[in-house]
Amino acid sequence: MGALVDRAEEVATVEQTIREGGKLFLIGPRRFGKTSILKTAADRLESDSAIVLRLDAESYPTLDLLVTGIVTGAARHLKGGVKRAGEQVRRFFQSLRPELDYSVSDGTWSGKLGIDATAQDHTVLLTEALNGLEKLAQAQPQGRPVGLILDEFQRVIELGGRVAEGQIRAAIQTHSRVGYVFAGSKTRMLNDMVTDAARPFYRLGSKVFLGPIPREDFSRFLEEKFVESGFSVEGGAIVRLLDLAEDVPYNVQMLAHGCWSRLRDGATAKTRCLNAPFVEETLSTLVRQQDPFFTQLWTMLTPIQQRTLLAVVEQRGVNLQSTKTSQAVGRGPGTIRKSIHSMMENGILREDRMLNSTRLRFEDPFFARWIVLTVMAANGMRMSR
Ligand SMILES: Nc1ncnc2c1ncn2[C@@H]1O[C@H](COP(=O)(O)OP(=O)(O)OP(=O)(O)O)[C@@H](O)[C@H]1O
Ligand SMILES: [Mg+2]
Repeated sequence: MGALVDRAEEVATVEQTIREGGKLFLIGPRRFGKTSILKTAADRLESDSAIVLRLDAESYPTLDLLVTGIVTGAARHLKGGVKRAGEQVRRFFQSLRPELDYSVSDGTWSGKLGIDATAQDHTVLLTEALNGLEKLAQAQPQGRPVGLILDEFQRVIELGGRVAEGQIRAAIQTHSRVGYVFAGSKTRMLNDMVTDAARPFYRLGSKVFLGPIPREDFSRFLEEKFVESGFSVEGGAIVRLLDLAEDVPYNVQMLAHGCWSRLRDGATAKTRCLNAPFVEETLSTLVRQQDPFFTQLWTMLTPIQQRTLLAVVEQRGVNLQSTKTSQAVGRGPGTIRKSIHSMMENGILREDRMLNSTRLRFEDPFFARWIVLTVMAANGMRMSR
């Protein structure tokens, strides 16, 4: 189920930002499809001769390794042969004194920075790399876009601290040729970074906040896939699937795939039909398969966090500051707030802000389901309606 549902507008915005040398922040909860959007846009641009470096900041343990990634990425994209690409990179990124190697056997570039990184502030290295990229872009023929896409951008700020924000801004606001797209999933951290008037990225570029994929589009896509495979779909089955996966694209795809493979393996040999109970059963199977992982996650939580999560499940993420919740958790609202906050920091919960209210949700809705099926079932607890 590889195709991208909806998201045409977001892909087009990323593409246009890079074509125009603009700046864009793409912000959304985990597993909502940020990387998929970035990849689709980058592939489209590259098929049209653009130079697009797409890096996931989470996969670099230090900033100087990220900088090396940018420099070697630039070498990979330059045309005109290995020798010429190497020369150009050394010229554009002169201040970093890159030492590059090209492996003929697997056609890849590797390298390191010639300057003594330990003696330098790593954020300075990053701004030098960005300046080098702008020089590279200026040297390209008109009409050949150059873009830098940094996925999980919050990692850069985690590594470089607040000082990195100011320095990166100072560098890139002078750039007009490179298009920058910064994406990230720690919604609150990135959100604060771009919406707080006192912080350097405020009003630096445009912002796209990623929401769920519209149900109508996702439903049509899923139904078509089941029908194409020769299965029938009973009314309500897809709605149940989207409900259980709480519209999180990753979970929707995982549950749909689970249903599809159980149907294929003949779990309902007589009917070959997807219906709501079948979707529920499939989710229980998936959750059971992940039991060791969820058990470990659960046992790592403090008893207060565990009781807070039970309250989040029972109350469907609302009214967590109520007396009823305090009674259930056995702690006051301040402690519950702290407990929620720490679980948002470590990626268990997220805030879903709606027009006039806020609801807490599990980043992984299947973890909530695991809690219902195991912890709550064992304790005879029920969810409120
Ligand atoms: N537009 C879409 N249409 C269909 N499926 C999608 C779409 N977007 C995402 N998915 C599904 O969700 C999965 C996760 O998407 P992706 O990795 O792009 O999300 P992400 O927001 O980058 O996640 P993370 O926060 O973990 O980095 C994809 O592998 C795919 O199965
Ligand atoms: Mg991602």
